Amino acid sequence: MMDGLFITFEGMEGAGKTTLARWLSDHLQAEGMRTWFTYEPWEPRLRSILLEHSNLQSTEELLLFVADRAIHTRYIRERLAEGTIVVCDRYADSTLIYQGYGRGIDIEWVRALNRFATGDLCPRRTYLLDVPVEIGLSRQRELNRIGAEEIAFHERVRQGFLQEAEREPQRFMVLDATRDLQELQSVIWADVHTHLR
Ligand code: TYD
Repeated sequence: MMDGLFITFEGMEGAGKTTLARWLSDHLQAEGMRTWFTYEPWEPRLRSILLEHSNLQSTEELLLFVADRAIHTRYIRERLAEGTIVVCDRYADSTLIYQGYGRGIDIEWVRALNRFATGDLCPRRTYLLDVPVEIGLSRQRELNRIGAEEIAFHERVRQGFLQEAEREPQRFMVLDATRDLQELQSVIWADVHTHLR
């Protein structure tokens, strides 16, 4: 039985996910709630292979992201079982979108691998920060190996996220990431409270 609340932030590079996810976690903590801010790729050695290794093929990249998620999910489940609110910067949707829609690996394959790695753990709420590709890329200071992909790749990523959000409207909340930070914070803050008991 899981008592905690699992929240994820998704979107392309430069959308502001990390800032908002950290803010949400800190703000809930300031209200007396137990929270854990976390992110993917998570395991430090896998993270450096994934973001810095220059020679990975799509299949290898996919399997490493999924392996990383399998490990991470074990820790997320432990925290949720303790009643902690887990706020995660990227999760399974990122693999579906980047490796599926972006790299062109069969979407149903990716879905199946995600289910396998997570044992079907699914966020209660996912905030999708949507931003036009050029704006997102111009906001990002440093681009990792994947962020440095061509514009067409990022367009597939953006459209993929929007398509998945339409497929699961109950879970996703799509936010226009070009809005003021304060406005985004107040929308998220109001929404989060509808998920807290
Ligand atoms: P990161 O440094 O965490 O920053 P940001 O989320 O702000 O871009 O970069 C993670 C990179 O890894 C990002 O380019 C997206 C990519 N990624 C995938 O391709 N698949 C995945 O499953 C995950 C979790 C991330």
